[in-house]
Amino acid sequence: MSSQAIVQRLLADVRQRIIGQDRLILRLFTALLADGHLLVEGAPGLAKTRAIQVLSSGIQGRFCRIQFTPDLLPADLTGTEIFHPQQGTFTFRQGPLFHNLILADEINRAPAKVQSALLEAMAERQISVGSTSHPLPELFLVMATQNPIEQEGTHPLPEAQLDRFLLLVRIDYPTLAEERAILQLVRQEARQQQKGAAPIAEPLSQTTLLAARREVLQVHLAEAVEEYLLQLVLATRQPQRYGSDLADLLQYGASPRASLALDRCARANAWLMGRDFVTPDDIKALLPEVLRHRIQLTYHAEANGMTSDKVIELLLQRVPAP
Ligand SMILES: Nc1ncnc2c1ncn2[C@@H]1O[C@H](COP(=O)(O)OP(=O)(O)OP(=O)(O)O)[C@@H](O)[C@H]1O
Ligand SMILES: [Mg+2]
Repeated sequence: MSSQAIVQRLLADVRQRIIGQDRLILRLFTALLADGHLLVEGAPGLAKTRAIQVLSSGIQGRFCRIQFTPDLLPADLTGTEIFHPQQGTFTFRQGPLFHNLILADEINRAPAKVQSALLEAMAERQISVGSTSHPLPELFLVMATQNPIEQEGTHPLPEAQLDRFLLLVRIDYPTLAEERAILQLVRQEARQQQKGAAPIAEPLSQTTLLAARREVLQVHLAEAVEEYLLQLVLATRQPQRYGSDLADLLQYGASPRASLALDRCARANAWLMGRDFVTPDDIKALLPEVLRHRIQLTYHAEANGMTSDKVIELLLQRVPAP
């Protein structure tokens, strides 16, 4: 079977075990194929844990959940050097970051130095302790969650570090019909005395996943579509070109990481839809999730109830698509 067919089968299996939340499911696959990390914002109880657990059961690899708390230390994530007095030597004991799929729950509950240990590992793909660096596995995906309602005692991630996330996904409550289906599904699982979703029978091998990633890199991006991508990102830095009202809204634009992310994600999206070329619609679909955490609105914009999503909508209206 081709890697395309195997990944499609996994996607169908995951969709059977999670009702709705299709955006989250698709973006988990996008991140997996684009080799990036995602930040998920949403209320409690919206199947975030379930989604990554189901996905992990469908991939050959090790999964780990890390609950971020105020007393967490960087070494609790990365690992520590252990001294052996008899030999007078140190050995490194790997921390939970040495897993393939990681759920970093409620990252804004931990202090800044713990957050930056996570974000550094995400970007560098290695852990440096003293003079030695320990490489993280090739398949290394972090899904971090944060509650959108800022509470007391939380530490919002610094803007500069948010950039390390390939995508910021927002999820919402299920519809009535979906909620009914969730009831049925979870009831049925309880009757079968099953804890959570049924595991996926034939997990995807890492070899297949890496082959799929290589195919994603081969997806064609026409010159005109690439130009569109670049103009969208550039518009966040030179908004005056698209109207003085837009210029009043944007304080800072997105970094080149945004263009790179958009390129990677649009290709992954095209591949997931079974195409070998990117369309402007791939770019449009991914733009909010790629940009929303990388742009900074002005005080004026925020005071007037503007959100980064509304600004991104304006960009999509004003930057002409090919
Ligand atoms: N869309 C869904 N499909 C299937 N089950 C769901 C769905 N939404 C919620 N559930 C069920 O609701 C419960 C809560 O889900 P889960 O623990 O994954 O939420 P969460 O987003 O991780 O919450 P928290 O933010 O509190 O950690 C689980 O029993 C899960 O099976
Ligand atoms: Mg959870």
